[in-house]
Amino acid sequence: MNHTILAIESSCDDTSASIIKNGKILSNIIETQEVHREWGGIVPELASRSHQQKIVPVVDMAFKKAGISKSEIDAVAFTRGPGLIGSLMVGSSFAKGLALALDVPLIAVHHMQAHILAHFIDNPQPKFPFLCLTVSGGHTQIVKVSYFDQFKIIGSTLDDAAGEAFDKTGKLLGLPYPGGPELDKLAKFGDKNKFKFTEPRVGGLDFSFSGVKSSVLYFLQKETKKNPDFIKENLNDLCASIQERIVSILIKKLKLASGNYQIKQLAIAGGVSANSSLRAQLQELEKYGYEVFLPDFQYCVDNAGMIARTASFLYENKIFAGHNVEPLARWSL
Ligand code: KG4
Ligand code: ZN
Repeated sequence: MNHTILAIESSCDDTSASIIKNGKILSNIIETQEVHREWGGIVPELASRSHQQKIVPVVDMAFKKAGISKSEIDAVAFTRGPGLIGSLMVGSSFAKGLALALDVPLIAVHHMQAHILAHFIDNPQPKFPFLCLTVSGGHTQIVKVSYFDQFKIIGSTLDDAAGEAFDKTGKLLGLPYPGGPELDKLAKFGDKNKFKFTEPRVGGLDFSFSGVKSSVLYFLQKETKKNPDFIKENLNDLCASIQERIVSILIKKLKLASGNYQIKQLAIAGGVSANSSLRAQLQELEKYGYEVFLPDFQYCVDNAGMIARTASFLYENKIFAGHNVEPLARWSL
């Protein structure tokens, strides 16, 4: 691995830049956009504007922290998709311009592939094949990973993603956006067995989370009619019980997949992999002969470090993009 790459991630609401040198991440700068909080969700137009403002300082900071100059770069990588088209446009246009100016190749990276390959940044690293539960705001999938570019989706959500389930139930509880990390924090002081929410009946390896959201909604409507302060008085227990339901669904399906495919190496990726209960419950599985891989927190959320690591796989295999490459809002693995 003899190369230095600048990578840019701008698929959603984080502007991020990273430098990787000979397979080692030297910097991973992540600027999360705060502008969406007051709107209770991501406003695409505001996201692209914010990327536009932040991209130059974030890239400068990535170079500075890495102690690398622009002339040392062998390639520029960027997230091609999937994501918000306006946000992707900012990162891809910037990457194209810089690659052209420096006369170096361009590398187009798949965002979900990068979440999975984040497992090859630090040690210990899984060996192929392994199973990866990819859980983010837009995705919930179980992926059989046979090689750095060979994926088979063996289970996926039929409706909401796991991150959406956290965010939507968080909203019902009056938590600020995004609900996932807030709910995780509050759940630490709650009783996860206090309330029971419906477990969806979905066969095989697929998931469903819309029923969890409805079950929480109807329960809260019923209880707040009797006691308007119900949520306030039970907030920690509600968070812990909701989290337990979502996490138990994820773990159950991952264990089922492991049995079906006879693969005991289990990994998680995507924003929800930062969830402390999911991490703890997965780690518990090590007692039963599973090998569990949990990425460092900075590589769970959207970050350019994972784009950089994926780009180094692509660079070694000489997989470059033409300068006419277009970002893709939708792009399957
Ligand atoms: O991968 P990501 O940063 O962006 C997407 O590509 O979607 O994932 C964002 C999702 C959000 O739904 C957020 O609520 C969730 O990840 N999330 C969490 C936690 N941290 C982030 N969900 C539960 N617990 C957390 N600690
Ligand atoms: Zn993501």
